[in-house]
Amino acid sequence: MKHLLSIHDITTDEAQQILSVAQDLKSKQKKGIPHPILKNKTLGMIFSKSSTRTRVSFEVGMYQLGGHALFLSSNDIQLGRGETIYDTANVLSRYLDGIMIRTFKQSDVEDLAKFGSIPIINGLTDLLHPCQALTDMLTITEHKGKLEGLKLAYLGDGNNMTHSLLYAGAKLGVNVSVATPKGFECDDEVIANAKEDAKKTGAVIDISYDPVQAIKDADAVYTDTWLSMGQEGSKEERLNVFKDYQVNKELMGHAKDDAIFLHCLPAYRGYEVTEDVIDGPQSVIFDEAENRLHTQKAIMALLMAD
Ligand code: CP
Ligand code: NVA
Repeated sequence: MKHLLSIHDITTDEAQQILSVAQDLKSKQKKGIPHPILKNKTLGMIFSKSSTRTRVSFEVGMYQLGGHALFLSSNDIQLGRGETIYDTANVLSRYLDGIMIRTFKQSDVEDLAKFGSIPIINGLTDLLHPCQALTDMLTITEHKGKLEGLKLAYLGDGNNMTHSLLYAGAKLGVNVSVATPKGFECDDEVIANAKEDAKKTGAVIDISYDPVQAIKDADAVYTDTWLSMGQEGSKEERLNVFKDYQVNKELMGHAKDDAIFLHCLPAYRGYEVTEDVIDGPQSVIFDEAENRLHTQKAIMALLMAD
């Protein structure tokens, strides 16, 4: 594994290795055992969109691994003024040991990897959010004791989060049922790739418009904002279209009694999820947020250690 651009690009073994290293690093961190695997290494973090979790967990993670992280807002670096990805990748490869980038186009992340000579980590694009989906697999494992054969239901917008959950489920043997409204479906190519990957693990990928069918007997229920970054302009239209996909008590009643509720955050209570669900006993959102730290430390350690 040279980069983490998409979970579709990595093998099942590599995905499992990320989760097991994450568990090991989490346990070391909890016990206060130092683990300076990236001593003297430097990670550049390019952000073209806002972030709380990704920014803080990568920066703290790098510190805990003995290295250093630099926050590079695309408003402040020359990339935001039109410097090419080619020049940026080449220049930053001379200073840094790795780059985490959050941006719009998946192709920009891929070009950074193509033109640079250091590991690139996708910190979210319009298409994918691999660090979050791997984190979610760790969180599900912790709460359910396994992954294979479980049912993960995703209700709402067919977005970057959905795509990466499809890829993660397909690689790790988790059955993923997605229900979106018409017009807000997942990307066709992502669905086809996920179905192809799922053949190797036996995972079932089910895509529909029916939230009740999707959530039925689920072990884990997931939703995300109806308004991803960059889509704020279409708010009124979206709120109306998505209302039947709101994860509320009634819909949760179709999942297994011991189902857990996940959300990548930031969440908008009263829209994609009701307060009684997200703040209720089935919710594991803060374990999930914490696990970004441990999972990303594993990703950085695997990609950047000597
Ligand atoms: N879940 C997530 O990526 O959160 P941030 O946008 O705060 O980084
Ligand atoms: N789908 C959301 C995820 C935020 C972490 C967005 O792209 O804004």
